[in-house]
Amino acid sequence: MIELSKKVLVTGVAGFLGSNLLSKLLREGHKVVGVDNLSMGNLRNIAAHRDNENFTFLEKDILDTSFIDSLDEEFDVIIHLAAFKIPRYGNAVATLQVNSKGSENMLEFARKTKTKFVLASTSDVYGMSPDIPFKEDGNLVLGDSKVPRWAYAVSKLFDEHLALAYMEDYDFPVVLLRFFGSYGPHQHLSWWGGPQSVFIDCILNGDTIPIHGDGQQTRTFTFVEDTVAGIYAAAMKPEANGEIFNIGANEEITILQLAEMLNEIADETEKVDIKLIPYNEISKGRKYQDVMRRVPDTSKAERILGVKAKTLMREGLRLAYEWQKEVRAQEKEAVK
Ligand SMILES: NC(=O)c1ccc[n+]([C@@H]2O[C@H](COP(=O)([O-])OP(=O)(O)OC[C@H]3O[C@@H](n4cnc5c(N)ncnc54)[C@H](O)[C@@H]3O)[C@@H](O)[C@H]2O)c1
Repeated sequence: MIELSKKVLVTGVAGFLGSNLLSKLLREGHKVVGVDNLSMGNLRNIAAHRDNENFTFLEKDILDTSFIDSLDEEFDVIIHLAAFKIPRYGNAVATLQVNSKGSENMLEFARKTKTKFVLASTSDVYGMSPDIPFKEDGNLVLGDSKVPRWAYAVSKLFDEHLALAYMEDYDFPVVLLRFFGSYGPHQHLSWWGGPQSVFIDCILNGDTIPIHGDGQQTRTFTFVEDTVAGIYAAAMKPEANGEIFNIGANEEITILQLAEMLNEIADETEKVDIKLIPYNEISKGRKYQDVMRRVPDTSKAERILGVKAKTLMREGLRLAYEWQKEVRAQEKEAVK
């Protein structure tokens, strides 16, 4: 099916998912206005598209209501990705503020302009639910408020409820997407990008890979192209409106297996040791809770969005590894 060219507003465009989505939207012939305050994003991620006449970049903050009020263009869809993630080493205030006030500001813009709104939520909202695989209408089981990680899940749950309430009260469509750990080119090079980024960095630096706990906690990592296919379909398909979707892969692996797989992908001379670190040693005095299994039921996304993650982990991780190696080499060259 040939889609008509749409005008899309993407927040968080210079981040990991935003920049990969930007490439897809431009490739498919859409016009994009992208917003990012570059707090966590990187201009390197969008450099290839800066001269594209179908892309406008605005270095702006979604907490700044005067900026949002000044947006006088009409959009077919808003894809709201700008957010702060799990406050692992403090910064819970930023997570709660950006993900509540920032999202509310963007929803207000959608309300005024009656524009379809696609919200980035997270698999973290399922928390410690034992109901594996997680279904979109299942229970969400969060832990103790004294554990900082839940600030992120709570902020995203607030977003989900706010978006659904706006849809009901103000009559414009919203779609909620719960992403399961995405990885690939443009991923952050630190823990902000997830364990695979940290582990690759350890291998490139010749450091021991640190694994929190016993390494038996599982995840279903999703290659970024598969995540982007889900976002794209949700934005374009009217059948998605009003729905919640898990966007993730089905290949469940332990964190220990992830580290071992990356060590296998590395060159013979690059392989490093792996060390288990008890949770109490990394929590710096704060209470810590991990999610022991995280697996999505993706049948709804397959049925309604028509997407299914295709990339095998070993293949996707090799691409992420090669990309990260290249970027690190360029960074080292630049400081010479
Ligand atoms: N990557 C994943 O695996 C994953 C998993 C679950 C949920 N998510 C959600 O998907 C979205 C995108 O994630 P990502 O991995 O690309 O994160 P990211 O940090 O790479 O991208 C977010 C972008 O938002 C920007 N931003 C933050 N605060 C802003 C503000 N106040 N104003 C303007 N821009 C601001 C940052 O600079 C960054 O470029 C987020 O909402 C995240 O919570 C991602």
